[in-house]
Formats: sequence, structure tokens, C-alpha cells
Amino acid sequence: MRIVLYGGAGYLGTVATRHLTELGHQVTVVDGLIYQRGDDPARLLPSASTFIQADLRDPAALRRAATGADAVVHLGGLVGEPACALDETLAVELNYASPVLAAEVARTAGVKHVVFFSSCSVYGHHDGTVDEDTTPNPLGIYARTKVLAERTLTGLLNDRALTVLRLATVHGRSPRQRLDSVANRMTAQALATGRIPLNGGTQRRPLVHVADVADVLAQVLTTPDGHRTFNVGADRENYTIAEIAQTVQQAVPGCRIDAGPERDEADARDYRTSFARLTAAFPGACPTPLSHGVREVADAVQAGDLDHPDLPEYDNLVGLKNSLADGRIRALADDDCTRLHADYTRTSWSVR
Ligand SMILES: NC(=O)c1ccc[n+]([C@@H]2O[C@H](COP(=O)([O-])OP(=O)(O)OC[C@H]3O[C@@H](n4cnc5c(N)ncnc54)[C@H](O)[C@@H]3O)[C@@H](O)[C@H]2O)c1
Repeated sequence: MRIVLYGGAGYLGTVATRHLTELGHQVTVVDGLIYQRGDDPARLLPSASTFIQADLRDPAALRRAATGADAVVHLGGLVGEPACALDETLAVELNYASPVLAAEVARTAGVKHVVFFSSCSVYGHHDGTVDEDTTPNPLGIYARTKVLAERTLTGLLNDRALTVLRLATVHGRSPRQRLDSVANRMTAQALATGRIPLNGGTQRRPLVHVADVADVLAQVLTTPDGHRTFNVGADRENYTIAEIAQTVQQAVPGCRIDAGPERDEADARDYRTSFARLTAAFPGACPTPLSHGVREVADAVQAGDLDHPDLPEYDNLVGLKNSLADGRIRALADDDCTRLHADYTRTSWSVR
């Protein structure tokens, strides 16, 4: 298959590109490398893939890549509430306008299948177990842009296949390593300082290994089927934040957990997720436990494979602040972005 990965030079995309090319697919990655300075895509991506450096808000660039493709996958954007809160207009452009433009282009280019990377963060706070039929409860800009993109893509692509992947929080090793998601961050901190800071331990989160996400992507790409939404992870990989810290502590002997306030006021997400739909469609999906990803990251830090775990390139939030400061990325507010920003402004968020 000919597959385009928009945002494919990131943490998930580089792992997915390797996996898909190893399976024999022709992969084109379109990415603006919005965080890296002078980074070489040849170091991040397999030689069997094609790389195009472009802005994912540029319909002409999206179209060039999509022409002749069997499927396009959108995994570009700003990840997490803190990054989105730095510049709400930019967040809406990257997380909402860009996937909508990609879907519009896919329609006119005759691409039969669009895959959109969303997040379990859309569930926000729920007392019981959430599944794909649970009404989203987006608590911030990141989750809102994801919910709105899911809805608009569903309307736009009514005559072709759309797969929405709502990912659990990802852990493990990647050629484009991130150390700012919860398990990876705790692991790097435990090794660097001997401490795991814990702000609120009771909130529940699902976790998933980065290679398992790539494998689910490969499976959905080869079985397009109408409109489908999947939570991506495994039932047994629901953890509390304290349990994540304990898993890291077991992998880094001698480190201690420093418990802060009982709740993290800045992040109210708390939900238990069902992955039954994914498991029914793809038996055995997402088999890798959290302990494996923690071990991988710990081994990489200890072996010196990561230049220095404190470098901004491993932290999207620091990287984004730097990129905004040096003008590497900014809100465009061009005609397309303004048109689509209006959807976001119009939307009422009392969705429960
Ligand atoms: N990593 C996680 O824990 C996680 C969890 C849930 C959902 N997701 C979703 O998965 C997707 C991928 O996440 P990731 O961790 O790989 O993120 P990442 O930041 O590592 O990768 C995103 C890539 O998109 C590129 N990009 C962003 N905006 C762009 C633009 N306008 N033009 C060109 N390139 C642009 C960046 O350069 C980067 O390489 C995102 O949509 C994210 O919301 C990730």
C-alpha cells in the first residue's frame, strides 16, 4: 500500500514508519520538524521511506503527498494540554484545521481511507469505565480540538473509510524520543535525580507501548471498514499515577517516590478505559506491559543512547516554547485557518 503519514517524523510516526516499511508498504512522511533544530530526517526515518518537509496547514503540500495514496494518516499536531495552552490559536490550527484540510484533500484526491490520531484525553473525567460510545468530556484545548476534529472528519468523509484511534498515553523507545509523557518522564527523572515527583497519585490513566500503536495502525490500514473509532491500549494497562511511579521505582532500584499534593489541580483527567472493541477486532492487540517501556527507556538513558535526558529535544513543551520564540512555528491565520478556527469558536463545549 501507498501510505502518507502527516506528522510522521515524531515520537509515534518514526516508529510507525519503520514498522510499515518493514511490512513492505511505501511510506511518505510529511513533517515540518517543528521542534528539532538541524535534525536529520535520515537519522529518524528508514531509507525505504520518502520524506517531505512541509507545513501540515499547506493544502498544496498535503495534496502533493496524497495524490495516488491508498491511505493517509494524520498524527501531526500539538500533544497535551500544556503545549496547547501556550498558544490556543496555534493549537486549533495544528490539531483541528490541519486534519480537516488533510481530509478535504484526501476526498478530492480520491484517497479511500483516512486514519486520525486522537486521544483517550477526550474522556476527561469519568467515574465509571469509558468506551467509544461514552460521550466525550473534553477538559481543555487539546481534548476539545481532538473531539471537534473527530466530528468534522466524520461528516466530511461520509463516503469513504475513516478510522479514529483514541490512544492511551504512550511509553517506550522511539528514534524521535519524547521524555515528557508520564511514564517516560518519571523514568528519566528517577535516573537523573533518584526521585520520582508524584503530584496526585489517585487519577487513573491508560498506558500503551509505542510499538503496539504502530502495530494497531498497520492492522487498521490493511482492513479499512466504514467509520470506526477505537480506544488503543489494553484493559490491564489502566493504572493510577501512583502505580506508574511504583512501576518505575521497580525498574530503577534505590530511587524514591516524592509524593506532593494528593491531587494534581492542573490535570483533572481521571478515567478507566475499556479496550474491548479493539480486542474484539484485533485479538491480542497491545500486548506490551508498562514495565517493558520503562525498562527500554531506563536502558537507553543508562547506556547513554539519549544525548542527555534533560535536552529540550526530548520535551515537546520546552521545544515548542523555543520554536515559538525563534519563529520556527506560529499561528498563520490565513484564509483556511481562519475559516476553520470559526468552527472551534462556534462550538459549545457543554457536550455531556
Ligand atoms: N504520545 C502520546 O502519548 C499520545 C497520546 C495520545 C494521542 N497522541 C496523538 O498521536 C499523535 C502523535 O503524537 P506524538 O507523540 O508522535 O507527537 P510528536 O510531537 O512527537 O509528533 C508530531 C509531529 O508532527 C509534526 N507537526 C506538528 N504540527 C505540524 C505542522 N503544522 N506542520 C508540519 N509538521 C507538524 C511535528 O514536527 C512532529 O514531528 C498526535 O496527534 C497526538 O495527539 C499521542
